[in-house]
Amino acid sequence: MKKTVSSFLEAKAKQEKLTILTAYDFSTAKLIDSCGIDAILVGDSLGMVCLGYENTLSVTMADMIHHTKAVARGVKEALLIADMPFMSYQVSIEEAVRNAGRLVQEANAEAVKLEGGATVVDEIKAIVRAQIPVMGHLGLTPQSINMFGGFKVQGRELEAAKRLIDDAKRIEDAGVFGIVLECIPEALAVKITEAVSIPTIGIGAGAGCDGQVLVYLDMLNLSGFTPKFVKNFADAGSVMKEGITKYVTEVRNGTFPTSEHSFKINAEIIDKLY
Ligand code: KIV
Repeated sequence: MKKTVSSFLEAKAKQEKLTILTAYDFSTAKLIDSCGIDAILVGDSLGMVCLGYENTLSVTMADMIHHTKAVARGVKEALLIADMPFMSYQVSIEEAVRNAGRLVQEANAEAVKLEGGATVVDEIKAIVRAQIPVMGHLGLTPQSINMFGGFKVQGRELEAAKRLIDDAKRIEDAGVFGIVLECIPEALAVKITEAVSIPTIGIGAGAGCDGQVLVYLDMLNLSGFTPKFVKNFADAGSVMKEGITKYVTEVRNGTFPTSEHSFKINAEIIDKLY
């Protein structure tokens, strides 16, 4: 069944946990979609796990459109959410709406995600007014790492924790249909989840959220990055390494390809060739 923004809101009402994974290409999106996931996020984590950047700040609208288009071709049932990259919504409300519109119109995203609380309320309202569903993102928002001084757990102090609860309510009022909570204490995530009527989606925010999101390469041991909040659900990294090493060995020692992997031609034709 096709998942929509309404399915997200219904899931919170029924207390059913929501599942989200990232994807960045057609084949992976198709595979993840076939597993019954609720949403696929083309995250700007793209910059780190696919493009090899140190952080997400270098990711552009062109990158996001290119990869979201590819993912969209592989998705049938999951809700497709695309991240708005750094500087695509910070300059002006007009640019925010135009860039959100490009992700929908050119790349076939069904919703966009952007980072921030009270400071992005006007952008969220304007994008929602343009009939584009928006997912919020609070806590360790990677586009703010230079302000945070690195990738650090957020909301541990009283004022910061209060601000996150307030931000969640402010962006809910602005119209977001869900909020990603990244790297905040578990008990604070529970407070935020209770304070809003839209689903919270945790990543490093504990089990009390209404759903979870992970970068698919991290949870399959494909990125070589396993922070505290990631579990390796399968060791695809080792399976791939083993397969690739076997391929290298067999090509070198002549055991691949065999006649089973080769095409035939009539020997008379071959004999007539110089
Ligand atoms: O960019 C991303 O992949 C994200 C998730 C980690 C939530 O924003």
